[in-house]
Amino acid sequence: MVRHYLEVLDLSRSEFIEAVRTAVRFKSEGYPPNGLRGTTLALIFEKPSTRTRVSFTSAIHRLGGSYDYISSAELQLARGEPVSDVGKVLSRYVDGLVCRVYSHATLRELATHSSVPVINALSDQHHPCQALADLMTVFELKRTFNGVKVAFVGDGNNVATSLMQACALTGVDFAIASPRGFSVSEEQTKRALEAARASGAEVTLTEDPKEAVKGADFVYTDVFVSMGFEAEREQRLKAFVPRYRVTRELMSLAKPQAKFMHCMPVKRGEEVDAEIADGPSSVMYDQAENRMHTEAALLYLIFGRWGWL
Ligand code: CP
Ligand code: NVA
Repeated sequence: MVRHYLEVLDLSRSEFIEAVRTAVRFKSEGYPPNGLRGTTLALIFEKPSTRTRVSFTSAIHRLGGSYDYISSAELQLARGEPVSDVGKVLSRYVDGLVCRVYSHATLRELATHSSVPVINALSDQHHPCQALADLMTVFELKRTFNGVKVAFVGDGNNVATSLMQACALTGVDFAIASPRGFSVSEEQTKRALEAARASGAEVTLTEDPKEAVKGADFVYTDVFVSMGFEAEREQRLKAFVPRYRVTRELMSLAKPQAKFMHCMPVKRGEEVDAEIADGPSSVMYDQAENRMHTEAALLYLIFGRWGWL
């Protein structure tokens, strides 16, 4: 049966780590130019993107593969064609689908009907390609996943969920501080805790940002209002600002050399102060660059050694 990467836990611990290590190698030694020769992908996006779109297209190009980028508004999907038919038909043209959707249920439906691998380029619940780049960035800086702590402060959203599961899978300690009602979902936390039991990682949920960042090597945040949640903006700002903003004071409670992480795009002055986002501790541009290396590695392994197709 064909496999898909809809969420971090679709990969085993060893597969996830292999993808990170392959990405580190690609970054230092260059990409195998024919690594994806003859492979064609369709990139279907329901929402805007800077990093995900261009990192994927550049990775595919560098590996000698080809792609078609399609805004979902240009598909018959926009006129009510069932997702199942889109999955069945596109599978006959291309070797893989990379999709950014509003609802995770759309991805599941697509995957159910697709005979080629579907890769999640962000949904409302998960952002597993971001998590690969995040853990690569952690690994580059620490050279290990053992004895490392990542703290996430803010909305328990798609990015936080995938980060939590990636930390749990690889053995990185993870703490998240979110206001009541905005934490990661219980179901996803339960799955992260299961992975953490196997890896030995600690997963901590709190409402207190100061508690979460204690002893952290990395302090991570994301926007308080994700794409698709614009109608909740006022209510969200009331819940998050200013307590959950990453400030110099909050960073000073983490480890002395702690790094600041953000998936980007950043709202300076909202979830993080500009002096932190643009300061010397920030590694967000490395994370952004690592999107391309980890996606190249993921595709290379999926269509090569892992033989998902
Ligand atoms: N981090 C991320 O996914 O950015 P884009 O929305 O620009 O793709
Ligand atoms: N949580 C954000 C991430 C953007 C890359 C969103 O879903 O809009």
